[in-house]
Amino acid sequence: MAIDFDGVYRNSEVWINGHYLGLRPNGYISFRYELSPYLHYGGQNTIAVKVDNSKQPNARWYSGSGIYRDVRLVTLNKVHVENWGSFVSTPVANESIAKVNIQLKINFGSAQVTTVLVKNLIFDQGHKLVVTAEKTVKLTGVITALQEELEVKNPSLWSDVRPYLYTVQTQVLIKGKLTDTYETPLGIRTFSFDADRGFVLNGKEMKIKGVCNHHDLGALGTAFNVRAAERQLELLKAMGCNAIRTSHNPPAPALLDLCDRMGFIVMDEAFDMWVKKKSEFDYHLYFTKWHQKDLEDQILRDCDHPSVFIWSVGNEIQEQWGTGKDTTGRVIARELVKIVKSLDQTRPVTTANNDVNLYNNVIQSGAIDLIGYNYNHEKWKDFHKTYPGKKLIATETTSALQTRGHYDMPSDSIRIWPTAWDKPLLMGNEDFSCSAYDNCYSPWGSSHEASLKAFIDDPLVSGMFVWTGFDYLGEPTPYEWPARSFYFGILDLAGFPKDVYYLYQSVWTDQPVLHIFPHWNWKAGQVIDVCAYYSQADEVELYLNGQSLGKKSKANDEMKVTWRVKYEPGTLKAISRKNGQVVLEQTIQTAGKAAKVILLADRSKLKANGKDLSYITVKVTDLQGNLIPDAGQLLSFKLSGDASIAGLDNGCPVSHESFKGSRHKAFNGLAMAIIKAGHTKSSIQLTVNGEGLKPATIALDLNP
Ligand code: GAL
Repeated sequence: MAIDFDGVYRNSEVWINGHYLGLRPNGYISFRYELSPYLHYGGQNTIAVKVDNSKQPNARWYSGSGIYRDVRLVTLNKVHVENWGSFVSTPVANESIAKVNIQLKINFGSAQVTTVLVKNLIFDQGHKLVVTAEKTVKLTGVITALQEELEVKNPSLWSDVRPYLYTVQTQVLIKGKLTDTYETPLGIRTFSFDADRGFVLNGKEMKIKGVCNHHDLGALGTAFNVRAAERQLELLKAMGCNAIRTSHNPPAPALLDLCDRMGFIVMDEAFDMWVKKKSEFDYHLYFTKWHQKDLEDQILRDCDHPSVFIWSVGNEIQEQWGTGKDTTGRVIARELVKIVKSLDQTRPVTTANNDVNLYNNVIQSGAIDLIGYNYNHEKWKDFHKTYPGKKLIATETTSALQTRGHYDMPSDSIRIWPTAWDKPLLMGNEDFSCSAYDNCYSPWGSSHEASLKAFIDDPLVSGMFVWTGFDYLGEPTPYEWPARSFYFGILDLAGFPKDVYYLYQSVWTDQPVLHIFPHWNWKAGQVIDVCAYYSQADEVELYLNGQSLGKKSKANDEMKVTWRVKYEPGTLKAISRKNGQVVLEQTIQTAGKAAKVILLADRSKLKANGKDLSYITVKVTDLQGNLIPDAGQLLSFKLSGDASIAGLDNGCPVSHESFKGSRHKAFNGLAMAIIKAGHTKSSIQLTVNGEGLKPATIALDLNP
């Protein structure tokens, strides 16, 4: 028997029945301990886990603390496939044939056998057996390696738009008796990075349209929940995003399962620092002793995920710089890449560099396959002048700042906050807000439009990863405390899209988009910039109270259209048209007095498994159902049935309200309740009340 930990933050030590099993300083790494020799068979067994996260600060963001990912007890026969003991790759893959290379490590343990039969069966997505092969394997060591190549005819290829998954089932048999079954996901695909063409998947050029995400799940903290992560990915997919960078550490393995299944291209990152620190007690203290083990374990654990395409061995590593003879950056970069390549030669290795000049030691190591630029989008066009013949990926971009639902005019006046990267953070204007017009960004970053334009225009930029998909806890920028989250997300901490979400959707998807903003509650006579992101149309016409304010089309490389409108209350309506035919319409109405609550569940049927979630959007509206754009009422939440409120949030980066409990304020009209299923088949009811508001109730079904 063994115990698997997917991640414990940090400095975990584990004992079984008083026997010390080991220590793992790294809070993001997965590990297994063998328990069998120390078990009390038939008696009581005690596993003790100690976590020491007392030395602070040790991260630049909210890390969470303790056992925050899954733990499993694993029972195995003596002869079994070693943990993370398979490596499946597809050296040849096209529409007519795939060669599937399977490398396996068989652990013979203390068994008295010298020969086993290993069968490999490949099943398609519908669990139909496609091909099978078997091999007699003779013991050559406690761990015996073997290799096989199987062919799949007319395979369905894995891609971001059609993430077709096969399964390789390995069966180990002793004298005809099954002793172990081990499953590995198989995505049949080929890919390459090209200096001029960028990223090529299954022979076709395509762009990696990604976001960086930290591991917290908003109001749920960092405790991993499959549905919470799946929902984040669904929201990103709907925006046209097809890639994730797991900044700046190995993710929960279950996140990679989701990416395999949902069609995300993953940049799987190892470290935010090497020997030189970013915060006092961070991993630099353990790097020298632990980097090899941690990196090897990450590669072994993740290499069978078809969604993983790129390994990143570091983000904005301080060893980029070195004066005189200090070339540690080169030495460490070479060593890390060597570790990766010793285990996986099918994927490129990158690092995310914020200094992209020629003196950068990490780049100069010559070991890096893909040169990763953080920011510096204005330098992408000169990439081949600086690094002739090399391959480029924009590992991190943008860092623009927005508060959902807040607008500073004029929309084309740019705020760079703070004014320079080395200037202190702002102390806060009256409401600690950043404008959602895409006119506010960090000095090292850019507006969303600027980086996105440069990306679209430049075929050699294989991918971009926007900082960030979601607002996250910690590292507040541009404001000092009491701000407690970042403002960088395309979606806020609660997962409500900011306006730029529709910018990406209009550029990154083929679906027709029309999104006008801002809200329509202003002071009479005020001049308001009304913007529209749109796609699959030639023009947009804007109407105020039935009067046309004119048609507009995006000229040249514009990404939106804007009208400067003298405000009068009423109805703002936009119509997008193609060849004179209406494509989409959107209406925003001036909201009256706050009168009621509207509830919308992302899912109304939940599994009664103690884990499933429903995200319920709470809208504060007037009698007609128009959102009150600045509503901040205190709301109270009452739940009946076998479920609990796992979290409450409103996306406000300055809120100090608890994410737990049964009361929370709305922010700019919205709040989010995260309902967690219990274990029994039942009906759940959530009622939300607010002072002066007509309450609302929503029902959810819990099923086995
Ligand atoms: C980058 C860094 C990220 C985050 C971001 C904020 O330089 O890699 O971790 O700090 O800046 O803009």
